[in-house]
Amino acid sequence: MKILVTGGNGQIGSHVIELLLEDKNNEIINIDNFVTGKKYHLQNHNKLKTINGSIEDSKLIKKIFKEFIPEIVIHTAASYNEPENWVRDIETNGIGAVNLIKNSLEINISRFIYFQTSLCYGNKPLHNPIRLDHPNFPGTNSYSISKTLAEDYLKLSGLNFVTFRLANVIGPRNLSGPLPIFYKRLKENQKCFVTNSRRDFVFVKDLAQVVLKAVYGKGKGTYHFSCGKDVSILELYNEVVKQIGLNHYPEPEIQEISDKEVKSILTDPDKTFKDFGKINFTKLETIVKESVNYYDQYGVGKTFTHAKLNDKK
Ligand SMILES: NC(=O)c1ccc[n+]([C@@H]2O[C@H](COP(=O)([O-])OP(=O)(O)OC[C@H]3O[C@@H](n4cnc5c(N)ncnc54)[C@H](O)[C@@H]3O)[C@@H](O)[C@H]2O)c1
Repeated sequence: MKILVTGGNGQIGSHVIELLLEDKNNEIINIDNFVTGKKYHLQNHNKLKTINGSIEDSKLIKKIFKEFIPEIVIHTAASYNEPENWVRDIETNGIGAVNLIKNSLEINISRFIYFQTSLCYGNKPLHNPIRLDHPNFPGTNSYSISKTLAEDYLKLSGLNFVTFRLANVIGPRNLSGPLPIFYKRLKENQKCFVTNSRRDFVFVKDLAQVVLKAVYGKGKGTYHFSCGKDVSILELYNEVVKQIGLNHYPEPEIQEISDKEVKSILTDPDKTFKDFGKINFTKLETIVKESVNYYDQYGVGKTFTHAKLNDKK
């Protein structure tokens, strides 16, 4: 199959590409502008061509669709690491996505796979676990506004699509959020700040297996990717301390969450289990171990968080 992947040098895209390349019948074009992705996340492969470019570039995207004629589009590229850069968010997450959707319609691709953020439900979701029929309240940050816009265009397009609404995908190549931040600060003997909350952490390699099933035709529409259980941020911290192998326990500073957030954000995976079958979720210990091995090898670099709370509300 001919598959176009966007953002393939990122955490999720690179794991999906590696699995796709195990099938000799797959040929992949990856487009990435390396804003957050890394060249070393993908090995050279004769069935993989990586283009250093942006999905915002409508001429380039048109040319790729016209010449390559992909059957499947796996759209993982996203802008999120500068919360005040609304222009770039809307250009990448909005216009970039619409470029891909419009070209997909023109050549009538068979399936479009998208990755939405569970921040679309807002900082204070109405249910826990959050059901798929929860209304969208993306207005708490520029990232989720622009990501939700793209998901809406995808629905409007009438394309055959699968959207995975994700909370916290972690593992090797994860360079944002608490896991790399804890690693970096612990290695630099700096104090860590641990919020008194729980989150829905899932392993990137478990997600990639399910994405592969979607590529080969399983599922339709919107899904959560979640194991259905949340983990406290302190448990994650303790696991990082353990896997780094420190011989003392650096006491973290526990921070209470603000009244703009909820203690636990958990998404309901029922439909995912029904349509994709049983998922063998990897243990936190293994996830953190693999991540720490990756950070030991490549370092963490600049860490960031995409979700800036709007203090005016
Ligand atoms: N990782 C998570 O926990 C999580 C949670 C919710 C949603 N998502 C979504 O999953 C997708 C993948 O996330 P990830 O964790 O792999 O992030 P990532 O930063 O590792 O990967 C994103 C990739 O997109 C590339 N990119 C950014 N702007 C681009 C542009 N204009 N043109 C081409 N490439 C561009 C980056 O260089 C990077 O390689 C994103 O769409 C993200 O919104 C991820």
